[in-house]
Amino acid sequence: MDARHSTYTFQDVPIGAEAELQRLKEQALMGWEKEHRTLKSFGLADGMKVLEVGSGPGFVTEKLLDNLPHSEITALDIDDVLLEKAKHMLNHMPESRLKFSHASVYNTNLPDNYFDFAIARLLFLHLHNPLEAAIEIMRVLKPGGKLVIIDIDEGVFGAIQPELDVLPSILKKLAQRQASRGGNRNIGRSLPRMLTHSGFTDVDMDAIVQHSDLHGIEGFKKQFDINRFAGFYKNGVITQHEYDELNKSYENFAHSPDAHAMMLFFMACGTKPV
Ligand SMILES: C[S@@+](CC[C@H](N)C(=O)[O-])C[C@H]1O[C@@H](n2cnc3c(N)ncnc32)[C@H](O)[C@@H]1O
Repeated sequence: MDARHSTYTFQDVPIGAEAELQRLKEQALMGWEKEHRTLKSFGLADGMKVLEVGSGPGFVTEKLLDNLPHSEITALDIDDVLLEKAKHMLNHMPESRLKFSHASVYNTNLPDNYFDFAIARLLFLHLHNPLEAAIEIMRVLKPGGKLVIIDIDEGVFGAIQPELDVLPSILKKLAQRQASRGGNRNIGRSLPRMLTHSGFTDVDMDAIVQHSDLHGIEGFKKQFDINRFAGFYKNGVITQHEYDELNKSYENFAHSPDAHAMMLFFMACGTKPV
């Protein structure tokens, strides 16, 4: 089993490091305004001590720093390459505002009862043991502190026009593959009960829509880029027929002047009991 007990390894992504960084950037920035709105509605406020778990290359970290000018942000990630990228991009930030932690979410080495707010974006779908991770995050939150998990659910990933006919069955296979490796691409539907089972109270949930008419189509093209699926074809998760069909429909989508798409993200919030 992978020591990180998760299914995401930056070095292994099929599209390569630079393309993956660009994809993560577009995906993080497209959703930020609405995610920030919802984070505020869940109680995020300037001056709070904020933990970002699985902060990766730091695109969301940068937004948090911009929007919370009096907050101390701790960015935690297990991947040293991604942490270095984030450190490089945010090297103008004083340590009083930004701390980095190279650790796993299962064992953060952070102090008890320290943070007011924790955010985990697109991390939990990769975790072998989400409950254990949520319990560790609860340990470092102050009583009354909040955890917000932002994640997807492949069963309701969104919609795209012109439709990629083979996409739903391929996404189902990818979800099965992720499950066989210990992750969960259908985690969205289970977030409220997962928070409750790990001891959080006042659980709430919202959905965020990223739409190409609002954010531009380019970011969506990156999400459905055929190269992201090449690895799954090579290791037999999807068939040659599915790959060829996807390629054809993707070309049709990418070159259609009328192409549009939307993707759904889920935000679930729980409070550490006082
Ligand atoms: C899909 S990326 C999301 C990055 C960022 N949160 C975003 O929304 O763009 C998942 C991140 O989780 C990190 N990760 C995976 N397993 C982890 C673990 N056990 N502990 C901490 N971080 C982990 C990865 O290194 C990666 O940076």
